[in-house]
Amino acid sequence: MEQELSKLKQEAEETLSQVTDADQLEAFRVRFLGRKGGLLTGILRQLGQVAAEDRPRLGQLANDIKLDLETRFDERKTQLTETLANASAGGTDYSLPGRCLPFGKLHPITQVMEEICSIFEGLGFAVAEGPDVETDHYNFEALNIPKHHPARDMHDTFYVTDSILLRTHTSPMQARIMERQDPPLRYVVPGKVYRCDSDITHTPMFHQVEGLLVDRRVSFADLKGVLTSFTHKIFERELTLRFRPSYFPFTEPSAEVDVACVICGGSGCRVCKQTGWLEILGSGLIDPEVLKMVGYDPEAYSGFAFGLGVERIAMLKYGIDDIRLYYENDLRFLSQF
Ligand code: FA5
Repeated sequence: MEQELSKLKQEAEETLSQVTDADQLEAFRVRFLGRKGGLLTGILRQLGQVAAEDRPRLGQLANDIKLDLETRFDERKTQLTETLANASAGGTDYSLPGRCLPFGKLHPITQVMEEICSIFEGLGFAVAEGPDVETDHYNFEALNIPKHHPARDMHDTFYVTDSILLRTHTSPMQARIMERQDPPLRYVVPGKVYRCDSDITHTPMFHQVEGLLVDRRVSFADLKGVLTSFTHKIFERELTLRFRPSYFPFTEPSAEVDVACVICGGSGCRVCKQTGWLEILGSGLIDPEVLKMVGYDPEAYSGFAFGLGVERIAMLKYGIDDIRLYYENDLRFLSQF
């Protein structure tokens, strides 16, 4: 019993030295000093079974330990109360949980752009990026848009100097990629583009994802297949697509692709300008002139390209009826995504 008592004393002292709050202190009291089920009480109850000559000595020892632990318990309780009082009087209470800062999130346009790229990666496309500040050569000339070509007017360009500008589309990356790599190739190019343009479906800075595929015997059917499969994946349903004949100097034939307006269900609203359709991209088979300019043989290779408007896709995906909401930096709007 003597051994049991000294082991208990040692364990109790160790436990008490690690107590840091009122709950732990109470747990200590119940475990070591509790009247019902406390370890010390348990040992005292066994005193009746020890030899009569040892009983007074062991009884005295158990009582000394009990008194000692009770004194230490009271001291610790006073210390803890003082710490708490200090904390509430302006001191630092290190036992309080830390303050959580709210987590930031990716902007909805970044989220949609990343989703678009990952869908195309699943279709075997690699991702490339190019400069926002571009030369007139790559933005226009290499795309079969020489100086004074009327198609330049459609771009509302921000010029830095006569030959340097903010890219008006991601298409300049077509020539940059084809110049440095031989076919076959498949790329998507996400990025910011700039045009002097602003209303409920246009902003001066917006995002595009360019798509480019060059190989032998690529046809318009391949372009339709890839875009249809992409659209079904991004909108998570089989939205109706409309391929509308169009004109770009760097593709022939060219088409703009519209999806049935999800804001009004096709009946006509201010977003789709009462047409029931919203244009999401421009596309076409790469013009043989462009292939020649980068040194490809248009007899051997053909390809398609497309330029998706990321904001338009995000508007349709989330049912947003004004593109400018994405850029007003209102956290009540942005934190919903
Ligand atoms: C182009 O920019 C062509 N480079 C697309 C292309 C690429 C055609 C490859 C053929 C081959 P467009 O100007 O139509 O085309 O713009 C493409 C898409 O960007 C539009 O369908 C639209 O969704 C989006 N867009 C255009 N202007 C704005 C704007 N100011 N704000 C937001 N989105 C816009």
